[in-house]
Order: sequence, then C-alpha cells, then structure tokens
Amino acid sequence: MTQDELKKAVGWAALKYVQPGTVVGVGTGSTAAHFIDALATVKHQIEGAVSSSEASTLKLKALGIPVFDLNEIDDLAIYVDGADEINPQMQMIKGGGAALTREKIVAAVADKFICIADASKEVDVLGRFPLPVEVIPMARAYVARELVKLGGLPEYRQHVVTDNGNIILDVHNLRILDPSALEKTINALPGVVTVGLFATRGADIALIGTPDGVKTIEK
Ligand code: A5P
Repeated sequence: MTQDELKKAVGWAALKYVQPGTVVGVGTGSTAAHFIDALATVKHQIEGAVSSSEASTLKLKALGIPVFDLNEIDDLAIYVDGADEINPQMQMIKGGGAALTREKIVAAVADKFICIADASKEVDVLGRFPLPVEVIPMARAYVARELVKLGGLPEYRQHVVTDNGNIILDVHNLRILDPSALEKTINALPGVVTVGLFATRGADIALIGTPDGVKTIEK
C-alpha cells in the first residue's frame, strides 16, 4: 500500500466517529483531505464543519459542506486531523502545512481529538520532524536566537505566510523528551503565536494506517 492509500484508509475510518446532527471540527493536510472526502458522503446528515485553514474551508465548501465560524459554535464533539509525528503518549508535532495555530484553537474547543495518520508518523520520541513555530514577523530573529538557546536549529520557512499573516520557523535538531515543558517554554517567548507541539492537549484517539489495516489507539 502506498502512503496515500494508508492516509485514505484512516481518513475514511474516522467517519464512524461523526454523529448525525453535529458540527464537525476539520483539520488540514493530505490526510485530513481524505476525511473531508468521506465527510461529504454524509453531508446531509450533519450540520456542517468548522475548519482549521483556508485550504480546508475551500475544499469543504466545494463539496457542499457548510462551514461555520468557530465563534458561532457552543459545542464541538470531535476534531479530526493528521499529524507530522505522534508518540505513544498521543502527543504530536503538527504544522507541516503551516495551519498549526487554527488547528490548536479548534482542537482546544473539541471534546475529542481524533488523530488520523499513516504509520510512518509514529515515533518514540518527538523531534525528528522539524518543529514548526508560528511567529509574528517582527520577532523572527529574536525568537530564532531564543530557539538556538534551547538547543534547536531554526530555519525560516521561505515564501510561506500563514493564514494569520505570520511566518514559520522550523526547528531542527530537537529530541523532545518533555513535550509539555517545551510547549510551555516556547509558547512563552514574546512573538511566538503557537508552537506545533500538541502535548498538554494531545490526541484522545489515534487511527493509524498500517499495511495490515487501521489500528485504533484510545487514551
Ligand atoms: C497541517 O498544518 C499539519 O498539522 C498537518 O496535520 C500535518 O502536517 C499532517 O499532514 P499530512 O496529513 O499531509 O501528512
């Protein structure tokens, strides 16, 4: 099976968590795109979606799924999204698609975070994938210097502006042994909007695509 087939399998497997009559939180990326395709098949049974990026909003609308402003929503049962890495504690690195801030906001509102990922995303220790950090543009050099002090090698993601008008630093060379502590430390740096560590609030359910089928991990 190709990696995309594994992504498709978990995207469609997440459909079973969608309850009729609800608004569904939708992530961003190639795995989440498969989930959106699956969601479109039940669009008449749900109220709609809240989206974590302009790209997912466009796809949802193109498939006829109503997209709500998060501020209009009181209750969000599930948020379904991919990950760049996930560890056995269900903590993740996200933001490879630069949508980390809105992803973290929608995930915070949802009762359950359902992570959909192919097996290549499973790691014992987070950090092989460069950690994305969304930064206010004027703070780029300052935040980069602070990230070096933390042992990282930040790289400015060229030609990328986030949906919120900010820049991304991808931090290499990290072996993240205490993800919650690092999440708090980086989030506390002035100029940082969001770090792509989803540690304090990780996933509740992970659907992992393997050549033998979809593996379900629950917290
Ligand atoms: C988007 O900003 C990310 O958090 C994605 O969820 C993550 O990069 C996984 O992307 P793929 O599903 O495309 O691998």
